[in-house]
Amino acid sequence: MNFKRTILITGGAGFIGSHLVQLLLKKYPDYHIVNLDKLTYAGNLENLKEVEHLPNYSFERGDIVDADFLAGLFEKYQFDGIIHLAAESHVDRSISNPMSFIETNIVGTVSLLNAAKHFWGDNFQEKIFYHVSTDEVYGSLGEEGFFTETTSYDPRSPYSASKASSDHLVRAYYHTYGLPILISNCSNNYGPYQFPEKLIPLMINNINKDKALPVYGDGKYTRDWLWVEDHAEAIDLIFHKGKIGQTYNIGGNNEWKNIDLVKALCQIMDELLGKEKGSSEQLITFVKDRPGHDRRYAIDASKLKNELGWEPKIQAEEGLKMTAQWYLENTDWLERVTSGAYQDYYNEMYG
Ligand code: NAD
Ligand code: TYD
Repeated sequence: MNFKRTILITGGAGFIGSHLVQLLLKKYPDYHIVNLDKLTYAGNLENLKEVEHLPNYSFERGDIVDADFLAGLFEKYQFDGIIHLAAESHVDRSISNPMSFIETNIVGTVSLLNAAKHFWGDNFQEKIFYHVSTDEVYGSLGEEGFFTETTSYDPRSPYSASKASSDHLVRAYYHTYGLPILISNCSNNYGPYQFPEKLIPLMINNINKDKALPVYGDGKYTRDWLWVEDHAEAIDLIFHKGKIGQTYNIGGNNEWKNIDLVKALCQIMDELLGKEKGSSEQLITFVKDRPGHDRRYAIDASKLKNELGWEPKIQAEEGLKMTAQWYLENTDWLERVTSGAYQDYYNEMYG
């Protein structure tokens, strides 16, 4: 089949990547979407069951750190676009094991930049290297203010420092070699298929199992939450309409203190589970704080709105309810993720 474009998505079996792969496959049947994923603990091909049979989809298992593997992959598929999401993504894991973050997020990103630069040679026409990043690179805000695209970088966890480093390297390849890049920095995502080590799925899962709800520190840490499909749509828009060399902030305009968010989830779950009002809240337990815990993140996404017309579509009330409902309706998925059984799926499907 002759495709209009061939796009490499790295990390397409992860939480955000799997939503993006689904969106692009359905929206652009004339694009060949190649998903490259190492299938770490966070990569789950079951997230893509619905689309893996499509003729414009290919999956390749591999490591972005491996330069030889990447060279072969570029030869095989002749990519003209890359959307790079593969990363180690959990702050708590970065505190206990920083090296895997350095390897994948920094070395892996440079391997991918080198592969694109080498393969594309001097012909960067119609090519795009899009790097997906986080608002955590900007550090921590006080009670007031927002992160804009010109806020100075001030990362404080090994995770955010590794993402900041990768952002700098992507920009360096633009300025030094003229590689056509785009970067976006997004706030916290939530929705279906998120690995249950992150706040929202962890709380939903624990409420459902009548387990303690561990809130770090005083619970007044603030995050700006975005429905994951809104993020996928923003990435699609920036990939197609963004100005080369530019950075775009993506945010939900939806700030919550952790404790208020957990209480809202308790209320939603009480309703969905038919439990007495207020009963899930009794599971809340304040626990030892995360070291170097960033106090507040909040995004000013006005550049993306003014230049490309993007705004989040799903409001918190609706999004949180849909998320809770999804986890309750997909207890099999959750069981397989928590037991590790999902990792057999690759062998079942791909041998
Ligand atoms: P995730 O942890 O759910 O998924 C990461 C994926 O990358 C997994 O499928 C994993 O198997 C794959 N991967 C890891 N190391 C790899 C390697 N060396 N080679 C190939 N594949 C590898 O992460 P996510 O939450 O979907 O985040 C995706 C991207 O978006 C990351 O770059 C992250 O920094 C960024 N981001 C995430 C959020 C968020 O709230 N989750 C917010 C802003 C930006
Ligand atoms: P998380 O989902 O890990 O995302 P990030 O650290 O990238 O923002 O955590 C979101 C917030 O919730 C953060 O302030 C840490 C807090 N948190 C808890 O209070 N308890 C938990 O069990 C987890 C996982 C997070």
